[in-house]
Amino acid sequence: MARKKVSVVGSGFVGSTLGHILICKELADVVLVDIESLKSKTKGKALDMAESTPVHGSSVKVIGGSDYSDTINSDVVVITAGIPRRPGMTREDLISTNADITKKVTEEIVSRSPDSILIYVTNPLDAIVYLGHKISGFPRNRVIGQAGVLDTARYRYFVAEALGVSVRDVQAMVLGGHGDDMVPLTRHTSIGGVPMDQLLDKDIIDGIVERTRKGGGEIVGLLEDGSAYYAPAASVAEMVESILKDQKRVLPVTALLQGEYGLENMFIGVPTVLGENGLERVIEVDLDDSEKSMFDKSVESVRFTLETLDKMGY
Ligand code: NAI
Ligand code: 2OP
Repeated sequence: MARKKVSVVGSGFVGSTLGHILICKELADVVLVDIESLKSKTKGKALDMAESTPVHGSSVKVIGGSDYSDTINSDVVVITAGIPRRPGMTREDLISTNADITKKVTEEIVSRSPDSILIYVTNPLDAIVYLGHKISGFPRNRVIGQAGVLDTARYRYFVAEALGVSVRDVQAMVLGGHGDDMVPLTRHTSIGGVPMDQLLDKDIIDGIVERTRKGGGEIVGLLEDGSAYYAPAASVAEMVESILKDQKRVLPVTALLQGEYGLENMFIGVPTVLGENGLERVIEVDLDDSEKSMFDKSVESVRFTLETLDKMGY
């Protein structure tokens, strides 16, 4: 049986960190691709990773460069190509540069891996997944985006920190767009099965929700010259693992909604089942009035970005 193959387009901070996690976990052969002027650097990163495989006890192969022919017949392609934001920028400020890059990269990929599952990471995420779906022509189960796993990981980390408990025992879910209107579902958050509101005061929970929403910006402010990559890469790796091992994990993913949550032709973060076919199911959560109004606000923000892309002629 052939080993699975994952191509990672954009071998910057997120792409190369992801490549390293994938080979450490021995999930698949990995191909890193970047622009022609970074061909040697990308090759160097891949060789460095390959030389770590004996230490990790991992038998997968990793190569890097700028030639898309290396990506042929990938099972999964992760697209991180584009510019990250700098302090003072919103994710939406990236749209014109990153839409152009996404269009070119997607065309290169889909002609060579027509059966692949595409996972977009590039920001502004929800709009980029919308564009990737449009350009690729792939069905919705094979075009998804990573954001919710990261937003949920940040939220779980902050809850665990506030309670002095293991992150492993915080069960939670963040819905909505990958922006400051995202919706951490506090009512559905539990710690070892105990509802969070029995363990934490409302003002602490409100503070955690606010910090989660601004989590990406907090890291941008600290790094000063780029955005987060360790937690984002770990989040993509969790999605890739669920797909390649057909784990059917329930993970929040940016997906095309076709009637779910009362929405048509909308790309937004919702709980899904991820397995060998990619997005196998969207799970609908019953939202109360307050959660629904927060979700609606997030939908409106995403809709505005999708319309911006339409107006730009994509
Ligand atoms: P980076 O600047 O370190 O890496 C981006 C890479 O893309 C660079 O190596 C660049 O040369 C490459 N690239 C640019 N144009 C390309 C093209 N046409 N073909 C192939 N490669 C190309 O940036 P970083 O930190 O890795 O972030 C990448 C993107 O992911 C950004 O848009 C960032 O905002 C986004 N991001 C999204 C997250 C999410 O949760 N959805 C989390 C973290 C980052
Ligand atoms: C984040 O949330 C950059 O969108 C990315 O860290």
